[in-house]
Amino acid sequence: MTNDLYAVVGNPISHSKSPRIHSLFAQQTGEAVEYTAIQAPLEDFAGTVHHFFDHGGKGLNITVPFKEQAWTLAEHRTHRAELAGAANTLYLDQEDQLVADNTDGVGIVRDLRDNHGVPLKGARVLVLGAGGAVRGVLGPLLDEQPASVVVANRTVARAEALARLFGREHSGIDLSACGFEQVEGPFDLVINGTSASLKGDLPAITADVIGADTVVYDMMYSLQTTTFNQWALDHGAVRVFDGLGMLVEQAAEAFFVWRGVRPETSAVTEELRTD
Ligand code: ATR
Repeated sequence: MTNDLYAVVGNPISHSKSPRIHSLFAQQTGEAVEYTAIQAPLEDFAGTVHHFFDHGGKGLNITVPFKEQAWTLAEHRTHRAELAGAANTLYLDQEDQLVADNTDGVGIVRDLRDNHGVPLKGARVLVLGAGGAVRGVLGPLLDEQPASVVVANRTVARAEALARLFGREHSGIDLSACGFEQVEGPFDLVINGTSASLKGDLPAITADVIGADTVVYDMMYSLQTTTFNQWALDHGAVRVFDGLGMLVEQAAEAFFVWRGVRPETSAVTEELRTD
């Protein structure tokens, strides 16, 4: 029996952990899956996607910088992809039409709620950032019915736009937007969705966002403690997590979308930590 072919598409792509994650899922579940990495040229993402599916490929994950293009390219979008404004998962439906999905938001919710036991229902949440990464996760986070969510961003207008967009669907939740200077803590949960730490920067918030029981989650991950989590630890945070668990959970949800089989994730996350 030949394996069904899947891949992650990005540019650059050589650093991607997705092939490793999906091959561990395939081993664990016994699914006949082969998963590779494809670097698409910046000017021809669409050509790369069409070529892959025209040659029998079954499904793609999409990463930086193509998630918005994937969303635009698809003929259909799941509701969660529609709200996210970006897609990390593509497949063909029964009529061979391209469907865009987004599993990032489910990924962070499962990592927080199920892997780390962080209660989301009724929580007071601060989300830092208002770019694509944050838009991708806000819907599933709000579905968990936190008491309040503050979206704070360097460019306030972007945070306000997200609050308007998601406020329509989640009218029962106290959802607000502001700049970093206006944030008043503490919060139960602080999520860093900015890309500031890529440049070794920190969002300009005060440390009073962190109280004795605050959980801090950086959507970035790295071998060492991330810049943001180190700042949080230095200011008294007791529980800090990085985004590796989210990465594995979004992959597991994509695997489930494609195969109808849900892999077990904790052993895979452990394995990646020690790779
Ligand atoms: P992504 O897909 O990672 O979300 P993005 O859409 O470019 O990428 O968004 C990056 C986010 O990180 C934005 O919220 C951005 O703030 P602005 O909207 O003001 O640009 C935030 N960000 C990037 N560098 C930052 C820095 N040095 N300090 C604070 N916020 C930063």
